[in-house]
Amino acid sequence: MFKPLSCCNRVEDIISRYRKVFASVSRVDYVPIVAERALNAKVWDVNGRGYIDFSSSAAVVNVGYNNVKVVEAVKAQVENLLHFTHIYAFNIPALELGEKLVSIAPVDRAKVALGLSGSDANEGALILAKAFRKRANHLLSYEGSYHGCCVAGITASGIGMYREVSKTLSAWGRVTFLPFPDCFRCPLGLNPKTCGYACVEKVKEKIDVLGDDVYALITEAIQGDAGFVVPPENYFKLLEPYLRRAGIPLIVDEVQSGVGRTGKWFAIEHFGVRPNVVTLGKALGGGLPISAIVGNEEIMNSLPDLSYSFTLSGNPVASKAALAVIEFIEENNLLRRAEELGNYTMWRLKKIAEAHQLIGDVRGKGLMIGIDLVKDRETKERAYLEAKKVVWRAYELGLIIFFVSGNVLRVQPPLTIEKETLDEGLNVLEKAINDVEEGLVKDDVLDKVKGW
Ligand SMILES: Cc1ncc(COP(=O)(O)O)c(C=O)c1O
Repeated sequence: MFKPLSCCNRVEDIISRYRKVFASVSRVDYVPIVAERALNAKVWDVNGRGYIDFSSSAAVVNVGYNNVKVVEAVKAQVENLLHFTHIYAFNIPALELGEKLVSIAPVDRAKVALGLSGSDANEGALILAKAFRKRANHLLSYEGSYHGCCVAGITASGIGMYREVSKTLSAWGRVTFLPFPDCFRCPLGLNPKTCGYACVEKVKEKIDVLGDDVYALITEAIQGDAGFVVPPENYFKLLEPYLRRAGIPLIVDEVQSGVGRTGKWFAIEHFGVRPNVVTLGKALGGGLPISAIVGNEEIMNSLPDLSYSFTLSGNPVASKAALAVIEFIEENNLLRRAEELGNYTMWRLKKIAEAHQLIGDVRGKGLMIGIDLVKDRETKERAYLEAKKVVWRAYELGLIIFFVSGNVLRVQPPLTIEKETLDEGLNVLEKAINDVEEGLVKDDVLDKVKGW
């Protein structure tokens, strides 16, 4: 599978055309792979070079690249009905998907709104919560959180209905960022063994001060782009009564952690609370663009008809793909598999960490695992340059792996990855880490891997 890296003109040509046409705001370079085809956890580039993929294209292909059930469902749907409006009339794939989402989401009295990408799902969730809490102007969020790229579109729309919606945005700037419960690098500088959940107390203090002026608390169940930060087990359970008492909706962004990634449909299910709203994107469509907001009906109904809708939402092909993803996970018991393979991967990574000082921490749930690279285990200083080198060396050796937060390698293979492929990928990863520690990766790769 691993052909040697022969830098081919075709790749260089494609990359240079890319640079000419695409705005840099819309992408960033990690590795110069031009994909041609992919299957399950493997990707082949235009030179026919194969790679094991630990990224799932940023947690999108939970059921594997070109999953056969998804491909078949899409093909069949394309033949019959590529599109028919779901916002002015009806189609069956959207209906079936909506019903399925209601049945799996940990949300009471659930209603669904479909969209196109995780960003718009969060946008909608916030707008709806803001409308629901009418006079409240304050949003609670977390340091390090990432919830997507939209806001300006609605603010800039002049058409009457959207003016109504955009009133809800007038207080958008008033966001209080809370310290996320990170027990590896505690933002409060405390020891998790003795802190007594001081981070919960911090939220309570804010709620006490702001009271009725808060329209929502938005959080990831496990922070993704902040570096795979897993809250301690009781964090959300301890927080929930304060939110409930103050009537503050809890919005959980499951765009990265949802659709079985952590061994549950939704990562928040690990923490024993039922949110008011959850959002999905990424993996939902198995590679096609689709997102969903699932929330309590009183929140979801807090704006006028049609005022949070997308022309292409409920697209029958994307909906059929999403249904196939969910059914495939059910039929193949992938929640259990994610948990089991996750435990195994964690065990292997911890063993690897014993032999490599560069690894400061390994954490995660299911197959959402982060490897925190550090310059020094005592100071926990982030090893930014080394992370870039590991990504590059892994690429040279035939493994696709990216980092977030500058230094945290993200191990998020498809939940369907074969055990042997997983092992092979972990072996490559260990070799890449070893080569970096041994100084075998030159500094010139630092200009090639940009990342974020
Ligand atoms: C937690 C979280 N929320 C929202 C988003 C935005 O999703 P998208 O880029 O698919 O619109 C992301 C993307 O990385 C994410 O990780």
